[in-house]
Amino acid sequence: MSNPSLLILPGDGIGPEVMAEVRRVIDWFAGNRAMAFDVSEDLVGGAAYDAHGTPLHDDTMARAQEVDAVLLGAVGGPQYDDLDFSVKPERGLLRLRKEMDLFSNLRPAQCFDALADFSSLKREVVAGLDIMIVRELTSGVYFGEPRGIFKEGNERVGINTQRYTESEIARVARSAFELARKRSNMVCSMEKANVMESGILWRDVVTEIHDAEYGDVELSHMYADAGAMQLCRNPKQFDVIVTDNLFGDILSDAAAMLTGSLGMLPSASLGSPMENGRPKALYEPVHGSAPDITGQGKANPIACILSFAMALRYSFDAGNDASRLEAAVNDVLADGLRTADLLGEDGVDPVSTTEMADAILAKLDANLG
Ligand code: IPM
Ligand code: MG
Repeated sequence: MSNPSLLILPGDGIGPEVMAEVRRVIDWFAGNRAMAFDVSEDLVGGAAYDAHGTPLHDDTMARAQEVDAVLLGAVGGPQYDDLDFSVKPERGLLRLRKEMDLFSNLRPAQCFDALADFSSLKREVVAGLDIMIVRELTSGVYFGEPRGIFKEGNERVGINTQRYTESEIARVARSAFELARKRSNMVCSMEKANVMESGILWRDVVTEIHDAEYGDVELSHMYADAGAMQLCRNPKQFDVIVTDNLFGDILSDAAAMLTGSLGMLPSASLGSPMENGRPKALYEPVHGSAPDITGQGKANPIACILSFAMALRYSFDAGNDASRLEAAVNDVLADGLRTADLLGEDGVDPVSTTEMADAILAKLDANLG
């Protein structure tokens, strides 16, 4: 049997820097855990635009459909701000999500104990935090039609459409309930059923799926604004949160910041099973391209490394190896190693992107024996 295949899309900004470290982690698993991958690399975002005039070449899109998993760094940068909307770097990422039909976006927000003091909230509110936001990723206002900027009388009007079908809601709800069963068995669904018809339908369908198939899971509902407030007030009340594309975008940034740094958080975007039983999958750090620190060796590689851990768990059935990698990250943080995004303690000098990865690899080695 051939090795599982990985397509690496480093993208823009700090993407290539953090992805270079992930490649070393991938090599470590090949060398020490007999987990070899066939790795190929290609362009996405501004890098693809610079080379091809499009943020995602058709050949890259086709390759992404064929591989077992895609690992993406980050897209975007100020040099692309004035590009036409249709070729902006972000369109490359949105095309991957849409055409691979990656409807279920898993965004864990976990607070590493060693970092609890970096949160803007009090330590006791965030220490031990472990929640999972499941964001619908292929529909809603990000993709709904009609959309555009139109002329209406003598002024312009900007239009986007929030649109959800029952089946779109049902499939992401199922994925949230399935995850909850492997965690603390609670799902909180968030929408704005008080002002949006799509929110009323969302609440109905989530409830129907729950009652018919997942009666063992504890389900609650919250308006998304109240949910944002509760995330800041008492985030540990949540286990799995399921929500739509736009609310998920916003709530996941808020949840991420609870943990102290965006530089720590991975994500998985999953679709339906392929012929080999693996889900269509794309893994990426939640942080963006961070143009302000690009090329300085300051970026934190942990979010991208933990995204590879999620790939091990969700694409390659290697939960033990995922835990092995997560433990190495935890150990390095417990030792006090900090990249520049995590400073604040007295007398701690930041380590570089590569030094952080060196330390994680050394922990992997040490924990082998
Ligand atoms: C995210 C990002 C993207 C989004 C951008 C880069 C298109 O903010 O993944 O959260 O809005 O979905
Ligand atoms: Mg976002």
